[in-house]
Amino acid sequence: MKPQRHLAPTSAPLSWREIGRGLCGIRCGQQERTAREAELGAYFGVKHVFLLSSGKAALTTILHGLASCSSRRKVIIPAYTCYSVPSAIIRTGCQVVLCDVDPQTLDYDYSDLQRQVDADTLCIVAPHLLGQAADISRVCAVAQPHGVTVVEDAAQAMGGRVNGRWLGTQGDVGFFSLGRGKNVTAGSGGVILTDSDQMALRLRAVYEAAPEASLKSQIVNVLMVVAMRFAIHPFLYWLPAGLPFLGLGETTYDPHFAIHKMDGMRAGLLGGWEERLRVSNGERVDRTLRYLDRLPASLQHVQPIRARGVAYLRLPLLMPSVEMKAAVCALARERGLGVGALYPNPVSDIPELEGMVALRRFEGACALAERLVTLPVHHYVDTTDIERICRSLQAVSGAIPATAGRNQSALSTGPSRS
Ligand SMILES: Cc1ncc(COP(=O)(O)O)c(C=O)c1O
Repeated sequence: MKPQRHLAPTSAPLSWREIGRGLCGIRCGQQERTAREAELGAYFGVKHVFLLSSGKAALTTILHGLASCSSRRKVIIPAYTCYSVPSAIIRTGCQVVLCDVDPQTLDYDYSDLQRQVDADTLCIVAPHLLGQAADISRVCAVAQPHGVTVVEDAAQAMGGRVNGRWLGTQGDVGFFSLGRGKNVTAGSGGVILTDSDQMALRLRAVYEAAPEASLKSQIVNVLMVVAMRFAIHPFLYWLPAGLPFLGLGETTYDPHFAIHKMDGMRAGLLGGWEERLRVSNGERVDRTLRYLDRLPASLQHVQPIRARGVAYLRLPLLMPSVEMKAAVCALARERGLGVGALYPNPVSDIPELEGMVALRRFEGACALAERLVTLPVHHYVDTTDIERICRSLQAVSGAIPATAGRNQSALSTGPSRS
């Protein structure tokens, strides 16, 4: 990797003032946490908020709460999602049930969802992948007749809205991630939201049993946040991006993650989050509009009409062919454009889940793994970057026929594992 301007695929703004506030939070943890809970509840219009160490800790807490008063154990998730999601399910001793996705919407394939729900389904986890809203009312319509809970995974969609309602508040319970590169970051962190008193009662019991973070973990988080603050800058990012052992941006399956209540340092870092969220999402909408005005018409966008006004975490583009995706990613790597793939494989291909999930091919999930690329829309992306990215996409789409390898997903049969 050569020294050059190099964009990260995603980034969340964090000022030195906020880092200073995080350091102060170490001294008055409970106070900071209580303040953030109240702010989040008022802003998102929900009665109950729980703050944890990460999005996966939040999902684990939700699943433990649901499982504590039900004998059901199946948890339905999309076959294409962040590997933290199955990690949390396995952590709680529940069973992962995969459902295919529609690659045009990034949402569930609803006919498959209907087939997967049964009397042993504990909940359906519905993510708003990259900020693209899932159709929660449709998920609820599938879930309700079976008495199944809807968990809204708004890890990538904090501050997004559909029809005037916040994403994360439409299901029975929802959660956000405050990880690096999310809409707002605290280094790491998770937020659970629910308006249901009954749900809150179950969650409170699990939450109260979660340990407090150690001082060491808080100090490590401060150091990570400071390192990230430097390294994520486009003038420096070429350096960490050239060190594969850092595993930047990789999604990993690991059910042995730490779970604790959000500590004072992270709660302090979150101070002033409303303004940061507003600015960060405004910038994402602005970058998205500028791309949409310049993108080559030959490139297909996920839901082009609704895309206007969406605060994408990264702008999704479904390439017409596997070859075009590979060429775009290679050129982007060479030029440091911050354009790349999302998750490398469907969840069904995670080796540790072998024998635990249905052995079938998920066509929609495979299409996304093979052809989805994302464009950066964060605050460091400027007009020149957008021009360079669009010109690179144009160059690749002119050089490679759009039909090359297009039907690879449809033609391959049988399970995707070798
Ligand atoms: C869709 C989705 N769900 C859950 C998570 C878990 O969040 P965290 O990384 O904060 O544990 C992530 C994290 O990136 C995610 O993208």
